[in-house]
Amino acid sequence: MDRLDKIISSQTNYSRKEVKELIRQKRISVNNEIIKKSDLKIDSNNDKILIDNKPLQVKEHVYLMLNKPKGYVSATTDKTQRTILDLVPKDYLHRNLFPAGRLDKDTTGLMLITDDGDFAHNILSPQKHIKKIYKVTIDLPITEKMIQDFKNGVILNDGVCKEATLKIIDLNTGLVTLTEGKYHQIKRMFGCYGAKVIELERIAIGNFFLPVDLKLGECREFTEEEFKMLK
Ligand code: URA
Repeated sequence: MDRLDKIISSQTNYSRKEVKELIRQKRISVNNEIIKKSDLKIDSNNDKILIDNKPLQVKEHVYLMLNKPKGYVSATTDKTQRTILDLVPKDYLHRNLFPAGRLDKDTTGLMLITDDGDFAHNILSPQKHIKKIYKVTIDLPITEKMIQDFKNGVILNDGVCKEATLKIIDLNTGLVTLTEGKYHQIKRMFGCYGAKVIELERIAIGNFFLPVDLKLGECREFTEEEFKMLK
């Protein structure tokens, strides 16, 4: 049981003060009764809240997917640059959202944005072995040596990488699967061979693949089915 004004302000862009005003204007009902007091205690799992006759869906956390374009930094605030939160629909912005894992400014593709710290931690933890798949184009041909080394663990200056897979799509393009996320990892892995990454796109997290209809810059919630595939 929690206070009505607290629940509504946690789920919408309305402040507690604004919720009070909505109540004064008789715009909020609980279980079909117009409410007069903002400190009413309700059970958000069972009680039916309507604001202007529209049902309020109470969710503890949200899980959003974004098809990140180039030019956005994977941060929640930045003094000068656009951040991925600039692409999140404003109905979600009252939550403490953050990206679960970073993509470089010039990397595109699937990003998970959430306000669930435990979940994000699990997705990112190398111990959980949740794979992230990237499509990468480099400026040199992909070699058998790269494929073998990726499997055995490429040595970077901050440690040995976990086993990764590299599959050739064509001469310069391949699919890389990682279960960890070191700083600029893929760029540095190819850098060991004097190769430069030209294009990098994350196409999957766990068993969930970037939907073909999610356009660059689009952001929406995971459905329940999609969400299960993340793990
Ligand atoms: N590896 C990189 O080098 N950059 C990314 O954005 C993701 C993985």
